Amino acid sequence: MHGDKKFIQNIRRDYIKGDLLEKNTAGNPVDQFRVWFNEAIESRLVDGNSMTLCTVSGKRPSARVVLLKSFDESGFVFYTNYGSQKSKEIESSPEGCLLFYWAEFERQIRINGIIQKVSRQESADYFATRPRDSQIGAWASSQSELLSRREELELLFEKIKKKYEGLEVPIPPFWGGYILVPDHFEFWQGRPNRLHDRIVYERNRETWDKKRLFP
Ligand SMILES: Cc1cc2nc3c(=O)[nH]c(=O)nc-3n(C[C@H](O)[C@H](O)[C@H](O)COP(=O)(O)O)c2cc1C
Repeated sequence: MHGDKKFIQNIRRDYIKGDLLEKNTAGNPVDQFRVWFNEAIESRLVDGNSMTLCTVSGKRPSARVVLLKSFDESGFVFYTNYGSQKSKEIESSPEGCLLFYWAEFERQIRINGIIQKVSRQESADYFATRPRDSQIGAWASSQSELLSRREELELLFEKIKKKYEGLEVPIPPFWGGYILVPDHFEFWQGRPNRLHDRIVYERNRETWDKKRLFP
């Protein structure tokens, strides 16, 4: 029985796919991220660019999955509705955390930093590349607000579709990107016998300090 405690307790496996040794890690965590991210994307993992975004409202944390849309030395970018729960939390408390887990590689990356809005131009440039129906969907959704019936959302979608027929769909003023500017990375590689590798990079002015943690 799947709800059975013993059944759940017996679910475990060994992690055997690789290692993460200091001599093989990049000096810069964004370069190290790029290596792992590219491997995940090149092996066509389902939602390989998805990440769990954690934010806080006062002392209460919340988490949800969003898609990574770009990254470089300056940070990690995702797009969302600026009126959503996550956005309200970010505006009240900009500390955030991103978590990637690629089970097929037995790898996890945790990134902490400060979240801020990207420029209007950057959001508009990205919005313009989205499929038309996703653009319309962005207009139709007051993300995280109460919706009385599914039909209401579908009606809104059709109404907006009509409104912009034959026209370019403009970016909604309440929609755009955020960038998490990182100051802390942790790379986790599963190893046998729970002796996993954990390598942390901490920002130290213009450079990064690298450390190893007990698993
Ligand atoms: C695989 C996956 C990808 C998602 N990508 C996004 C995204 O890029 N942006 C977004 O706003 N929500 C995305 N969502 C939905 C969010 O998880 C969440 O439900 C929504 O943003 C509302 O969150 P909030 O109420 O905490 O603001 C995604 C969900 C999944 C499962």
